[in-house]
Amino acid sequence: MSLWQDDLESNASVPRIEYVHVRNYRVLKDFELRDLLPLATLIGPNGSGKSTVFDVFAFLSECFTSGLRKAWDRRGRFKELRSRGASGPIEIEVKYRECPGTPLLTYHLAIEENQRGPYVSEEWLQWRRKPKGKPFRFLEFESGLQVTVTGCRQTGGSSPVFRCQSHCL
Ligand SMILES: Nc1ncnc2c1ncn2[C@@H]1O[C@H](COP(=O)(O)OP(=O)(O)OP(=O)(O)O)[C@@H](O)[C@H]1O
Ligand SMILES: [Mg+2]
Repeated sequence: MSLWQDDLESNASVPRIEYVHVRNYRVLKDFELRDLLPLATLIGPNGSGKSTVFDVFAFLSECFTSGLRKAWDRRGRFKELRSRGASGPIEIEVKYRECPGTPLLTYHLAIEENQRGPYVSEEWLQWRRKPKGKPFRFLEFESGLQVTVTGCRQTGGSSPVFRCQSHCL
């Protein structure tokens, strides 16, 4: 076995992103990466958005560690962050597996801005119990209000956004 294969196999239990969809994030007005393998290479002309793809992950990471406000302000807020000429929220959707053979999880985040600053207009986490089964949403927030936990219970509580996001990605 080569060192390369060895590395891949020792990382087999690391969560892996298989799909990414980004809307309205700088030059990524409607951008999708499908069927991602453990090694992916981005190739494209200057200014096509390669670094921006990595910044999407940095942005998510900063949201979870330092909070949305800091990550947002550092990047020049909606004025700089939203794709020029676009309207509507910035949306990031990631499909990932905790480890091989486990269900595909979908994490969706939509961010908008008002006079008070950025806010999460939509955030949910869902999975399918069976490959072709109905999607089961077990965590859902709308404008900061938690509306679903476990997919069946309406809590109507006012849990703050990002409270449990460190578990999501
Ligand atoms: N809000 C925005 N709306 C639309 N385009 C934007 C926005 N902010 C930045 N851009 C564009 O994004 C491009 C830069 O993207 P990025 O740096 O990701 O490209 P790259 O593929 O990494 O380029 P390089 O090969 O030079 O490193 C520039 O053309 C810039 O004008
Ligand atoms: Mg670049």
